[in-house]
Amino acid sequence: MITARSFGTTADGAPVTCFHLENSSGAWAEVLDYGAILRGVAVPDRTGRLRDVCLGFDTAKEYQEKHQGYLGALVGRCANRIRDARFTLDGRTYTLAANERNNHLHGGVRGFDQYVWDHSVEGDTVVFSRTSPNGEEGYPGTLKVRVSYTLTEDNALRLVVEGESDADTVINLTSHAYWNLNGHGAGDVGSHTLCIDAIAFTELASDNCPNGTIASVVGSPFDLRTARPLEEGWDADHPQIRQGGGYDHNWAIRGTGLRRAAVLAAPESGITLSLSTTQPGLQVYSGNFLPVMTGKGDAHYGPRRGVALEAQGFPNAVNQPGFPSVVLRPGERYHQEIIFAFGLD
Ligand code: BGC
Repeated sequence: MITARSFGTTADGAPVTCFHLENSSGAWAEVLDYGAILRGVAVPDRTGRLRDVCLGFDTAKEYQEKHQGYLGALVGRCANRIRDARFTLDGRTYTLAANERNNHLHGGVRGFDQYVWDHSVEGDTVVFSRTSPNGEEGYPGTLKVRVSYTLTEDNALRLVVEGESDADTVINLTSHAYWNLNGHGAGDVGSHTLCIDAIAFTELASDNCPNGTIASVVGSPFDLRTARPLEEGWDADHPQIRQGGGYDHNWAIRGTGLRRAAVLAAPESGITLSLSTTQPGLQVYSGNFLPVMTGKGDAHYGPRRGVALEAQGFPNAVNQPGFPSVVLRPGERYHQEIIFAFGLD
């Protein structure tokens, strides 16, 4: 069942709508047409009590003012970093908006997370769409994007992200939801265990863009083929961990097509989150620099109080010929799926 309610207005007066998706067991998710944001997901813990496990805010104004953390946002046109905010496509060099020192991060100064999208409800699915004009943040091509959210009867939230362009461009859409499976605002996520189906990750250079090396995880804090607590790895004495201030890296997920990429689990609540995706990479950001701030219902947020599991193309892929391509050509359809399936251990 889907219900809609007003979520106030943006600073310039545009109305924002919150959609509440609920299944017959009472589990729910909430999404906003502002930024196609996922602002909450409530699922039962092992005692049957619902816990909202997704970080978010109570007002549109806060989403605008505190957007640096990208809480729950649908990020685009190109998630993650593009080195020196520049790339060359078909012999032409494009300069993008630089919003993190010299780099372009999560779509630029005004990314997809800062627009009110068009919305519609199609059965049990909420659909957001927008047209990103040619030249927006420096990107070529008019890009039409569509994001759909569906909550299933078995407590899985399914996202489908799609795009079509009238000229050669790049696209890399992901959800930037932060998870705390003990409940948003329930302290840090150090005791959460994480398992990732990957034998390699992309190493960071000093500017936090990949240095081009796809390194083996074996014998490092990046080997999460067997579940390990986040706190075991995020302070490890390892140059790549120091570079990211914890986990802030992209893993190369094994296989292709829709497959399971990761499982996050919280021993205290018993809640598990299994992530499946068609995307080639998974950026895990352990909230190392998440600002200290007040979230929904006066919850305390801050560093490491949530972990983002961002299924996406590899960072800076457009400048790395060895990485899976993020180029979208006219006539092609970008289509990726991300499924957050909740359960109990
Ligand atoms: C990036 C981080 C960044 C964070 C918030 C994550 O996706 O990997 O480096 O600090 O988003 O902007």
